[in-house]
Amino acid sequence: MPDNSAAIQLVPVTADNWRQCAALRVRPDQSDFVMPVTYYLCLCAYGTTWQPLAITRNGVVVGFVMWGVDDDGSRWIGGLVVDVDAQRAGVARAALRQLVDRFAADPDCPNVALSYPAENTAARALYASLGFEETGETEDDGAELVARWTRPGVGEPLAP
Ligand SMILES: CC(C)(COP(=O)(O)OP(=O)(O)OC[C@H]1O[C@@H](n2cnc3c(N)ncnc32)[C@H](O)[C@@H]1OP(=O)(O)O)[C@@H](O)C(=O)NCCC(=O)NCCS
Repeated sequence: MPDNSAAIQLVPVTADNWRQCAALRVRPDQSDFVMPVTYYLCLCAYGTTWQPLAITRNGVVVGFVMWGVDDDGSRWIGGLVVDVDAQRAGVARAALRQLVDRFAADPDCPNVALSYPAENTAARALYASLGFEETGETEDDGAELVARWTRPGVGEPLAP
């Protein structure tokens, strides 16, 4: 796989790029795992929890992700979609690395959380490869497993 991580950027959703976000499509067999991006855009626009980001590669929108802050300060990541034509090229991994780095830079962020159905083996492998660990928590009445990334060293006993 080419290392195109330098070309991947997280940028605000704006009047100029929201249509490209709304046009993102997944494979038919992936459609049970996510809602249409238009739904996520509405959630961000009319709800109070989620903030949207477009994922661009060389300036072209190839994906979408949103994030929010939980009561305990944890950052949640949701709505991750990489367009069908841009998948398997390292886009999601590069985007998530940037997002986690951004959150980890905030000392008030205890961990970064996300959830997914157990059957979403691609997402499960992706998150595990980035250091997210399943916690035993669930979301959506048990339909989704919760995994969290914790800054290395947090929770470990202090050296004597
Ligand atoms: C899951 C998704 C975001 C991955 O995006 P992507 O840009 O294609 O992922 P990457 O190329 O960065 O792949 C990173 C890792 O994810 C896993 N992965 C990604 N696509 C996969 C697939 N089709 N089958 C198996 N594993 C896959 C692999 O572990 C891969 O690492 P590798 O290439 O070194 O083997 C994308 O497939 C997608 O949009 N799926 C539909 C929506 C969805 O399920 N979102 C997640 C909701 S929880």
